[in-house]
Amino acid sequence: MKGKNIIITGASSGIGYELLKQLRKDNKIFAVARNIEKIEESDNVRAFSCDVSKAENIDRLFEEAFKFLGNIDVFFANAGFAYYEKIENPDWEHNLKIFETNVLSVFYSLQKLKQIKGGKEFTFVITASAMSYLAVPGYSLYASTKFALKGYADAYRHELENGQNLCLVYPVATLTEFFNTAHASEIPWPRQTASTVAKKIIKSVSGGKKNIYPCFFFRVGLLLNKVFPVFKLYHFIEGKKYRRKIENKLKLSAI
Ligand SMILES: NC(=O)c1ccc[n+]([C@@H]2O[C@H](COP(=O)([O-])OP(=O)(O)OC[C@H]3O[C@@H](n4cnc5c(N)ncnc54)[C@H](OP(=O)(O)O)[C@@H]3O)[C@@H](O)[C@H]2O)c1
Repeated sequence: MKGKNIIITGASSGIGYELLKQLRKDNKIFAVARNIEKIEESDNVRAFSCDVSKAENIDRLFEEAFKFLGNIDVFFANAGFAYYEKIENPDWEHNLKIFETNVLSVFYSLQKLKQIKGGKEFTFVITASAMSYLAVPGYSLYASTKFALKGYADAYRHELENGQNLCLVYPVATLTEFFNTAHASEIPWPRQTASTVAKKIIKSVSGGKKNIYPCFFFRVGLLLNKVFPVFKLYHFIEGKKYRRKIENKLKLSAI
């Protein structure tokens, strides 16, 4: 990927930060996060502080990105977070908060880019998750946000013109700040580094792939699941572990 005008959300940490690191040499990048102290600016990299969970903030993001980039070729909708929890009380705001950041922000950014570009080419890359297929116990709200992204993309792709690429990335557990933010007691297997995930994303997007599975074993698991219910088995085992954790009152944020 060279000579492109790129927006990356969630560029201050983890997968987004690695994308920025690996792409900054050959591209012009508008790097977005709420905390931008860690993002090193240069002639071709501008850091922009923005909470992407609100429509008016995304409107401003597009305005400022156009001022800096002149055009947008690739948009990485990567910002997101999880709760690891046991849901005990109905809480509208808690539910809304994660859907605003992980889902509504992505839909709105994609719709806006499509409106701006009309029939012209662009690439929109969404960091979904392996949990778009396989919801892990303790992550019911998070997994449902990632399922929503997949459902939207599967249908919305048909509204796009030739040359308008909508790519979804399905990483497995990636060693970033993600699990600390989620207050998770442990990191599930298999695991990857953010650097490996970013490398695979860049290679696959450049190769025109629509669905990107950075972990080979997860891809194999998905295929295997079509003939043998491995995900059911996974749920059975992980469900038992999760219930044991709750009984032991391990580090579950909602307890
Ligand atoms: N790590 C994993 O195991 C894993 C697996 C599958 C998918 N994913 C997905 O990968 C994406 C990146 O996660 P990560 O693992 O790199 O986690 P991370 O290290 O915690 O990074 C998350 C990034 O999103 C930004 N962000 C969060 N909320 C935001 C908001 N409201 N507005 C703007 N920026 C916001 C954070 O920056 P600020 O806090 O500075 O705003 C940070 O730059 C997420 O969508 C996540 O769901 C992660």
